[in-house]
Amino acid sequence: MYRRDFIKLAALFGGIAAIPAWSKQAFAASRPALPVPDILQPDVRGIYHLSLQQGQSQFLPGVNTTTWGINGNLLGPVLRLRRGKKVGVMVKNNLPSVSTVHWHGLEIPGDVDGGPQAMIAPGASREVQFTIDQPAATCWFHPHPHQTSGYQVAMGLAGLVLIEDEESDKIPLPSRWGVDDIPVILQDKRLNTAGQIDYQLDVMTAAVGWFGQHMLTNGVIYPQHGVSRGWLRLRLLNGCNARSLRLVASDGRPLYVIGSDGGLLAEPVKVTELPMLMGERFEVMVDCSDGKAFDLQTLPVQQMGMTLAPFDQPLPVLKIQPTTTQSGGTLPDKLIALPPLVATDNLPARWLQLMMDPRLDQLGMQALMTRYGHGAMAGMKMGDHSQMAAMPGMSAADHGKMTSTDSGAMAMPGMSPQAGQWDLLSANKINGKAYDMATPAFDVKLGQYEKWTLSGEGDMMLHPFHIHGTQFRILSENGQPVAAHRQGWKDIVHVEGGRSEVLVKFTHPADKAHAYMAHCHLLEHEDSGMMLGFTVSA
Ligand code: C2O
Ligand code: CU
Ligand code: CU
Repeated sequence: MYRRDFIKLAALFGGIAAIPAWSKQAFAASRPALPVPDILQPDVRGIYHLSLQQGQSQFLPGVNTTTWGINGNLLGPVLRLRRGKKVGVMVKNNLPSVSTVHWHGLEIPGDVDGGPQAMIAPGASREVQFTIDQPAATCWFHPHPHQTSGYQVAMGLAGLVLIEDEESDKIPLPSRWGVDDIPVILQDKRLNTAGQIDYQLDVMTAAVGWFGQHMLTNGVIYPQHGVSRGWLRLRLLNGCNARSLRLVASDGRPLYVIGSDGGLLAEPVKVTELPMLMGERFEVMVDCSDGKAFDLQTLPVQQMGMTLAPFDQPLPVLKIQPTTTQSGGTLPDKLIALPPLVATDNLPARWLQLMMDPRLDQLGMQALMTRYGHGAMAGMKMGDHSQMAAMPGMSAADHGKMTSTDSGAMAMPGMSPQAGQWDLLSANKINGKAYDMATPAFDVKLGQYEKWTLSGEGDMMLHPFHIHGTQFRILSENGQPVAAHRQGWKDIVHVEGGRSEVLVKFTHPADKAHAYMAHCHLLEHEDSGMMLGFTVSA
């Protein structure tokens, strides 16, 4: 979206009070328990088995919602893996749709990375083997099928991968799973009036992303969890399709960030507020020795210049209730030794310009006006369920038929959409090209440091940019110096109207048939073309 349109959007969507949909749930007397995903055990041959399957979940009392899960109804188990160990994973696709499983954050070769080329047909299985060779970290896995990743993640497919190593063994961090070491997977979901997951990749979501009116924590709305007294370790994942988060403790107690996407930091970084982009992980430590209950909350965020309703007030996502058990871990002063950054002056450099088709936001706005008229839009806010069920089933051919009902303020100069010339699924681009599975964009030399610049200067949209096959270091982020807790290993960098520079290196090959991906992790941008494939070779 272009700057001018953002201002219009902000004016249209912003500032109108509404009764938050979650308020009733938030003040209910008793909270459901936080589901803690199991740590998956391998079979006798050492193989981990994952089954992608359909099931039912109860997000709303008394309502069965069809969801997808891995070995269950929703989300998946945890793979706890050790550095240096060879891993085998057998993925069985019991879904009616083609899928893949991508290992987000793992430095493994392209042929086992699980990108869009690694399709698993309905009923089929695929076994991958790889050896973990990267520091202790919290990573995750999720589907990555061509043009339907957003849909499949929205349906519930995602799980955590924990990597442990000798260095992390030596650090006395809390490590009792579900007791003082807690996974927190945050995802919003849009449900329709029948309580079913309401997902469309349409002109609106391809422009701004898919937002839900419900926020789930490990698949449950605002659960509670009893934790041991003392230091608590939270492994946070923003698993939302399009929503960035801003996490705080409700009583303002500090969060000590100890790890980012690809591993532990050099030392803990104290923050009171932790912004998290889609796909990002952070590990944080919280002092619960006072025994007092508090909430983990997400504060309202401005994304695309507007507040993303209905979460326009602090939204509790997890009630933390310390018990009498004593936590085993502590918060050390020092964590790991991060390698110093190499000089970038003589490195190969790449420029990746993230681009949104200007017709996308114009058509998106026009479609909204056509459907609701100008008056309806004035009271509408992003993510408002009742009104944001915009344009169900709208096809590319419809767009040419749309006419504006607006009388001036929303005029779209220079716009004359022609039916048939518009391909929503390639509307978003990198360096002028939408994702093309057959044609990798470039080749990187194995083991060679490179400096990549990601530019989002053409629009004001949030683009959390992700690169497969590597953990990189951020050199500058959206035109700013890098925040202390973002200076460690990362696989996602913030791009929002500015430029970001990252130092990358690949230690595994990826050929044309199994290329690595680099893409925006706003999943509707990814699915509508803001992705490229690249190869790595010696
Ligand atoms: Cu988490 Cu290519 O994705
Ligand atoms: Cu990835
Ligand atoms: Cu994007």
